[in-house]
Amino acid sequence: MRRILKMGMVGGGIGAFIGQVHRRAARMDGHVQMIAGAFDIVPEKSLEQGRILGLDPARCYGTADEMIAAEKALPAGERVDFISICTPNNTHFSIAKACLEAGFHVMCEKPMTMTVDEANALADIVKKSGRVFGLLHTYTGYPMVKLAKDLVKAGDLGRIRKVVVEYPQGWLGNLARTMPLKAAWRTDPKTSGISCCMGDIGTHAANLAEYVTGLKITEVLADLSRYLGGRLDDDGNVLFHMQKGVKGVLIATQIATGQENGLNIWVYGDKKSLCWYQENPNIIRVISDTEPEQVWKRGNPYVAAKSPAAARNVRTPSGHPEAFIEAFANHYMNFTDTIRAREAKRKPTELELDFPSVADGVRGMKFISAVVASAKKGNVWVKI
Ligand code: NAI
Repeated sequence: MRRILKMGMVGGGIGAFIGQVHRRAARMDGHVQMIAGAFDIVPEKSLEQGRILGLDPARCYGTADEMIAAEKALPAGERVDFISICTPNNTHFSIAKACLEAGFHVMCEKPMTMTVDEANALADIVKKSGRVFGLLHTYTGYPMVKLAKDLVKAGDLGRIRKVVVEYPQGWLGNLARTMPLKAAWRTDPKTSGISCCMGDIGTHAANLAEYVTGLKITEVLADLSRYLGGRLDDDGNVLFHMQKGVKGVLIATQIATGQENGLNIWVYGDKKSLCWYQENPNIIRVISDTEPEQVWKRGNPYVAAKSPAAARNVRTPSGHPEAFIEAFANHYMNFTDTIRAREAKRKPTELELDFPSVADGVRGMKFISAVVASAKKGNVWVKI
């Protein structure tokens, strides 16, 4: 029996993108109840969103500070257990800090903070608080990404030589005018941080490469561009080195006309290579010089036999596709099971702990910082 955990949210107001995905994903398995929120930068709109969601008006707040103070004052058992932060980047640190210091577990959007210093400070706050902190790097929640990690770990690919990870989007090239609010805060350093494209999607790609290979990126050489003037980077090409002498290339772009969300990764070993593509996420292709191409399909017993993580993070039988919201739901399942394990005074299992943590957030900020420094210094190698 899983205790039903109570969820609060900051951000995710009417028309916002990612908050509604969090709400659907967290509740997918029926073990989370959404009961409170400060949903919008405009207090009246926050209350309106709460009304639309059918929440008790007494639990709909005008600001995050109000919510944290009021929920903290409620008796244990009534107050929220965790708070999901779904606001623009510049607000993550202060809201996460306030939540943790008030005793709430936190699920936070990426990039985790605005700077490396803030990220390190948040890691200390998490440790001191004893609360559980999750970071929503979506793509490691996909079961076939978990299989990819386990294929690499088991040595099926042999020695890893090279990683190519590409995250092409096109919406900031031409479509941004149809989504002006989302484009405005992402391209403005005051709300986005030191990077747009690398913070928004480059960090997802770097996190994916590190998760699948189990290796850290140690240095980068980056070339960033602004195809549309007067804003932060909207495109970037990064060469990187990883531990164990692995080399790689990371392309993240938001001006690739016609591209939607084409994240893909190739991992090349000396025996075999694999590819996962986010827009067809239920399969992994494995190729070699000696055997015909293999296609591993989500939900099959041969996947479960190879990867307990891929087996655990699946809800529907093979042939019934799962995708983005399920990947979010997997992170929520593991995050909330870790909270329950801590409550039961039990050490969470490796499978329960399989969600991005504050340490991934620190790495993400170091990646962004090194990439921006490399580009600024005239495309030189910068250590992470
Ligand atoms: P958005 O612009 O669609 O929505 C932001 C929402 O936050 C709005 O409702 C706004 O009113 C609200 N808000 C802003 N400041 C607030 C405050 N101080 N208190 C309460 N509400 C506040 O932005 P979007 O696309 O939903 O992005 C939000 C965050 O999620 C960003 O950090 C972004 O990087 C991340 N993100 C992550 C994705 C993933 O796959 N993990 C995908 C898209 C976004």
